[in-house]
Amino acid sequence: MSHATFAPTAQPYTTQTTVGQLVADRPDRSRLFMKLGIDYCCGGKLTLQDAAEKKGLDAASILATLTALETLEPAGSAPNPALMSLTALADHIVGTHHAYLKEELPRLAFLTRKVAAVHGDDHPWLREVHAVYTGLAEELSSHLQKEEVILFPAIRNLEQTGDSGAPFGADLSHPVLMMEHEHAEAGEALTKLRALTSDFTPPASACNSFRAMLDGLEQLERDTHEHISKENNILFPRAMAQFQGTHHA
Ligand SMILES: [Fe+2]
Ligand SMILES: [Fe+2]
Repeated sequence: MSHATFAPTAQPYTTQTTVGQLVADRPDRSRLFMKLGIDYCCGGKLTLQDAAEKKGLDAASILATLTALETLEPAGSAPNPALMSLTALADHIVGTHHAYLKEELPRLAFLTRKVAAVHGDDHPWLREVHAVYTGLAEELSSHLQKEEVILFPAIRNLEQTGDSGAPFGADLSHPVLMMEHEHAEAGEALTKLRALTSDFTPPASACNSFRAMLDGLEQLERDTHEHISKENNILFPRAMAQFQGTHHA
């Protein structure tokens, strides 16, 4: 992780901690604040108590939610994709990585646009970040559709009935190659985003939206790498092998 250094906060957090400090210490907290309509950027100087009251919310519950999310978050309980059936693995990918992208892509579209508009004069590379991100997000959205509507149902059918039920029959090689090609393109866009942002490192003067954007992009890279790896390294080769087994039987 390459986050800028911040003055360490006196922990544990209380409802008197400012929203800005909470997000500065851990930018992914911006997700919950965004969901609750709490302004963590321009309104970041408010204590959690005051910010919650403004929205008619209970600060103590928000703090409890943050703590619960952060306790749950460390990985370790994730299922082992190598041990799943093809159907379960396809369901798992849609339910985790695709669901994450559907929720996260619009948020990052908002953040990259806003940060480029506000800080693009000082940091012209932010405009390129926005452009690269926009292309990536469009490609990913259509990529998810193709997997969910065409390839994954074919893989499930193949496993369950020995017949893909798709127009391309049981030969998955063409759609799989196409998906792998799109994965490579997404990987290149992510590499470009990492380079443009100097490894997602915020400038010292960066505001909370700026930091939340970089943190979100870094998580996007991490999740997409994991996602692509499950497809390229596990789901697709096993589905192809299954086809060959069926084909030669
Ligand atoms: Fe996928
Ligand atoms: Fe994919």
